[in-house]
Amino acid sequence: MRINFELDEDIQLKQLQSSDASPLYSLINSNREHLNEWFVWVNKTQSPQDGNTFISSTIEKYEKTKALECGIWYKHQLVGVIGMRYVDMTLKSTEIGYWLGESFEGKGIMTKSVKRMLAYAFKELQLHKVEIRCAEGNRRSQAVAERLNFVKEAMLRDNGYINGRYHNQLVYSLLENEYEG
Ligand SMILES: CC(C)(COP(=O)(O)OP(=O)(O)OC[C@H]1O[C@@H](n2cnc3c(N)ncnc32)[C@H](O)[C@@H]1OP(=O)(O)O)[C@@H](O)C(=O)NCCC(=O)NCCS
Repeated sequence: MRINFELDEDIQLKQLQSSDASPLYSLINSNREHLNEWFVWVNKTQSPQDGNTFISSTIEKYEKTKALECGIWYKHQLVGVIGMRYVDMTLKSTEIGYWLGESFEGKGIMTKSVKRMLAYAFKELQLHKVEIRCAEGNRRSQAVAERLNFVKEAMLRDNGYINGRYHNQLVYSLLENEYEG
């Protein structure tokens, strides 16, 4: 059964499923410039089928490791994605990645969504460490991590290559004993 977290009366996180491929593609398509600044996969996404391939891979990943990938729904509209890139059961760690359509920024949707994913990671999966990685120039993403008291633990030099240039990557993390629930 599809996992569904109700955050408040407006925001829901729903595990991605194949019927989301079409709205997901439309959202990416109308936010190409916004997303292309930070993600290499945007240019490679050229049809709803590409969205479907991504969604199938997330379902497979969930079945193997419980690494959850969700659509973010705001007022019944798909407005973004949040998910775990992997779950490492030996280290009990994960990395959370996310994005929103540009017109849905500035409302606190992502901070609330990450908070819910933290509850899933620490309480349900009983993980020890959650990471957020973002480009050094991505102030909005850094602000999400900092708002939730993640600790900036490293800067990886030239660890991303987007739009023809390298950029430094910041690693933020939160440990289970720092998580306040
Ligand atoms: C990164 C990204 C998700 C951040 O989005 P965001 O809207 O800034 O983050 P939130 O949804 O948490 O909203 C925070 C903003 O809402 C405001 N806000 C309103 N109500 C709020 C609430 N209840 N809680 C928190 N913030 C709230 C905050 O003050 C903040 O506004 P500000 O930017 O004017 O300071 C978005 O910029 C994005 O998708 N960018 C492109 C893709 C990307 O970079 N992804 C991350 C790659 S590492």
